[in-house]
Amino acid sequence: MVDTAITNGRVVTERAVTDADVGITDGRITAITAPGTLHTTATDVIDAAGRLVLPGFIDSHVHVNLELGEYTTTDEMSDLTRAAAHGGVTTVIPFAVPDRDESPLAALGRRREEAAGDAYVDYSFHGCLTEATETSLAQVPELIDRGATSIKAFMVYEDRLMLDNGELRDVMDRTADAGGTMLVHAEDNAIIGRLIERHREQGDMAYDAHADTHPPVSETAAMWTVSELVAESECPTLLVHASARRTEEIATHAERNDLPLAVETCPHYLALTDEVYGRDDGEAFVCSPPVRSNEHREALMEMVSSSRVAVVNSDHCGYTMSQKRRHRDDITRMPNGLPGVETTGPVLHTEAVTSGAASIRQFVRLMSTNVAKLFGLYPEKGTIAVGSDADIVIFDPDEEWTIEPESLHMATDYSPFQGRSVTGRAETVLVRGERVVDGGLVGSPTVGEYCHRTPESAGRHYREL
Ligand code: URP
Ligand code: ZN
Ligand code: ZN
Repeated sequence: MVDTAITNGRVVTERAVTDADVGITDGRITAITAPGTLHTTATDVIDAAGRLVLPGFIDSHVHVNLELGEYTTTDEMSDLTRAAAHGGVTTVIPFAVPDRDESPLAALGRRREEAAGDAYVDYSFHGCLTEATETSLAQVPELIDRGATSIKAFMVYEDRLMLDNGELRDVMDRTADAGGTMLVHAEDNAIIGRLIERHREQGDMAYDAHADTHPPVSETAAMWTVSELVAESECPTLLVHASARRTEEIATHAERNDLPLAVETCPHYLALTDEVYGRDDGEAFVCSPPVRSNEHREALMEMVSSSRVAVVNSDHCGYTMSQKRRHRDDITRMPNGLPGVETTGPVLHTEAVTSGAASIRQFVRLMSTNVAKLFGLYPEKGTIAVGSDADIVIFDPDEEWTIEPESLHMATDYSPFQGRSVTGRAETVLVRGERVVDGGLVGSPTVGEYCHRTPESAGRHYREL
């Protein structure tokens, strides 16, 4: 007997595509059998004929309550995770960014308290160091012991989040020594700063200057620095939100030199181009790094095809259109970031799988397996196997629909993909066997549980992506 049987679906994992039934008991996968064999033994049967049965998506790059300048992102954990569930995401890993005068450990404790009982899907947190004082560096081992085995650092956002190269080096060394991993926002603040000053002198500070002031070289120069620091420290590191063509050379260098350095990109870099900054609503697309020209977009898609991009995450940042508009004439005061936790699955499926650029197994790796491997959640999460958590998305790969803000659930009033036709949709979403979405929302904010990641699992699978 099993509690739930998902029958007649096409089960996709990182390794195989198989027609099979999946049995679930007490929140875990307990049987994978020939199609049409499990329905008689289950209390609850989900007919997945004509559908894909995928491991739940994991989004390890989402911002909740991020305060930057005069803005704080709009979502609470319940908003973020409700929207995530609608998009097939069954685990999120936001950042425990310390407030001013708050320690990294206090930030983690506060985030955990805020999230308890307020999450529709499972969650963990990345630790975050916004300064490299002896006090904050000394907290790295305890962050890792408390389950935040990955530490985020920013090379930009001066006066709030930024570490300089010396500070970053210390944080990476300390994280490596404690058995943790890093995520780095790599952009060169000095290059960007001088370009902004030049634009300011010319009175050219509106949103359409964003891409010019954040050129590809500011990103790849900083990435090379990170690459060197990884070579020295051997700290497993994810370069987040890669947008530039020459990231490919950094990924190839890492591969040839056996560096534990992986690359993330986001759907907006794969589906949009810098033409958006010429539009009247161009401020809606301001994010760092910016969306780039088609040449960069194509190169990133090539990196997806060749598996040099390891993961695709949303970099979800919930701001409203009025927040984006308020300082549209001053890029230094505009909130950076785009909402997207709900749309990554359909946008990537359309751009990568429907287009023929990647296989459905690659899609599963990018959206789930590799994220679980990078962040110490595999094989409990990130796959469909006996013994794994029953985090499952029943996905219709053929459904064509148009993204419109009214049909989404994020705490904002726009989507960077609005008006775009996509193929593929999450129909039914289970978190540890419990239905959270089934046509519409059926779960509650008490479903989500904290995933305590261990130092033993952190970085273990970094070289197997
Ligand atoms: O523009 C972005 N990406 N905003 C969110 C914060 C960050 O840098 O990840
Ligand atoms: Zn960033
Ligand atoms: Zn981000």
